[in-house]
Amino acid sequence: MSSDNGEPIGERPTQEVSMNINGEPVTEAVEPRLKLSDFLRNYVGLNGVRVGCEHGVCGACTVSVDGDLVKSCMMYAVQTDSAEILTVEGLSEDGSLHPVQEAFHEAHALQCGFCTSGFVMSTYDLLKKEPAPSREQAKEHLSSNICRCTGYQNIYEAVDRAAEKMGGAEDDTAAPEVGGDD
Ligand code: FES
Ligand code: FES
Repeated sequence: MSSDNGEPIGERPTQEVSMNINGEPVTEAVEPRLKLSDFLRNYVGLNGVRVGCEHGVCGACTVSVDGDLVKSCMMYAVQTDSAEILTVEGLSEDGSLHPVQEAFHEAHALQCGFCTSGFVMSTYDLLKKEPAPSREQAKEHLSSNICRCTGYQNIYEAVDRAAEKMGGAEDDTAAPEVGGDD
């Protein structure tokens, strides 16, 4: 039996990749065409990486690669050789939820939950860069993720709650006062 391009199945060329995933070294031989999202789910067992659209739109597959937020369906696993990868599974420590995860739980920022790990990773990235984001900044940053269930309000509330937990200032969604009574 052969593949579409005539190569015998099971004899396609592979390339060895080594990276650190959630602090653990991982080495595997993979086909060069294997997407990072499929690698993380099917080779490493990190099913918190969701696969939705598979073309860079929904954000369900969002992970961090060398500190940058990426949609893992848009990268090949071989492109991450030597990289430091963080997935939603790597956020918790000693069995405790990360403050962003706690905030999503407490704010009921999910319904079906399919989008949640992507939103958690994007929120984590936002708060790393901007510890006290405004509502507009949160909307802008999370615009790379799509949720079909929640209407987003509770997600933004989770961002505010996570910012507070992590030491950022309170939500500053209120419009600044112009003028005043004095
Ligand atoms: S599955 Fe990657 S962006 Fe939708
Ligand atoms: S909670 Fe269902 S897609 Fe976001």
